[in-house]
Amino acid sequence: MSSLIEMNDVWYQYNPDSPLAYWALMGVNLRIERGEFISIIGPTGSGKSTLIQHFNGLLKPAKGEVIVDGVDISRTSDLKSIRKKVGMVFQYPETQIFSETIYDELAFGLRNYGYSEDEIEERIESVTKKLGIDYLPLDKSPFLLSGGEMRRIAIASILAMEPEVFVLDEPLANLDPQGRRELLREIDSLNKKESLTVIIVSHDLSEVSRYANRIIVLSEGKIIMDGPPKEIFKDVEKLIDISLGVPQLVELLYNLYKRGADIPYNILDMEEAAKVIVKWRKSLGNRDKLRTIPTA
Ligand SMILES: Nc1ncnc2c1ncn2[C@@H]1O[C@H](COP(=O)(O)OP(=O)(O)OP(=O)(O)O)[C@@H](O)[C@H]1O
Ligand SMILES: [Mg+2]
Repeated sequence: MSSLIEMNDVWYQYNPDSPLAYWALMGVNLRIERGEFISIIGPTGSGKSTLIQHFNGLLKPAKGEVIVDGVDISRTSDLKSIRKKVGMVFQYPETQIFSETIYDELAFGLRNYGYSEDEIEERIESVTKKLGIDYLPLDKSPFLLSGGEMRRIAIASILAMEPEVFVLDEPLANLDPQGRRELLREIDSLNKKESLTVIIVSHDLSEVSRYANRIIVLSEGKIIMDGPPKEIFKDVEKLIDISLGVPQLVELLYNLYKRGADIPYNILDMEEAAKVIVKWRKSLGNRDKLRTIPTA
């Protein structure tokens, strides 16, 4: 079977043939397989949003090709079926809510695709459960909800389309720490339990990297790293170079390493990190080198 998404030498230019012409993507190659949980990371302006908008044909490459589930987005006349396959949640999706009731908001996309009211009701019931918002009164206005709830409604309305791949642009922005954790856990469970392919854009490595099986790092329109989190964190310096925050744990271990501790630092799990540190301290034996342990 072919990859779910395939990008071959993709170039994208904003404002072509004008003084404002700007190459936002330069020679991007990518294969995304079914069931993956990918995090796309990169500093502001690195091309993350530009990249993901190619996944559903919202943007088309100036050069190169984008193949979604076997279909070339530049050649197909049926973008509607691609948009159904690739559920896209933009940054601050709650600002795009407009329906009078929560139910209508959740039903909007489904009605557009001609689903029956029975089917719509069923899907809304299921999706609100999955996102932990089944307690909300569906006949009430979405504008009475909290920011976090509105974000979930917006996310649920895309999820209700039952996409094969779920792409979220900075879904955690402006949520409080607990809201971020909860939303991430729910998205993770959609990936694990429902085998939904998940792609999350973020400019921060700390939270998403604990769930993603793969991290793609963008810088100035190019992919500069692509691999499992453990591989990515081996190259902490490179991440710091392009001003990306690294998880605190990695930073702590890396500081120990830099001061001479013979330990790996590409560790994301607290218990594993504790074991590594204990082992290292023991290996120092009776040489009383403990004084050299930094307090970073
Ligand atoms: N509509 C546009 N017209 C012209 N240039 C644009 C447009 N949208 C984006 N760009 C430029 O293309 C580059 C990549 O933008 P993009 O929005 O993809 O970056 P990003 O990684 O998503 O950034 P952020 O983290 O700020 O969301 C930036 O330099 C941006 O200024
Ligand atoms: Mg963006």
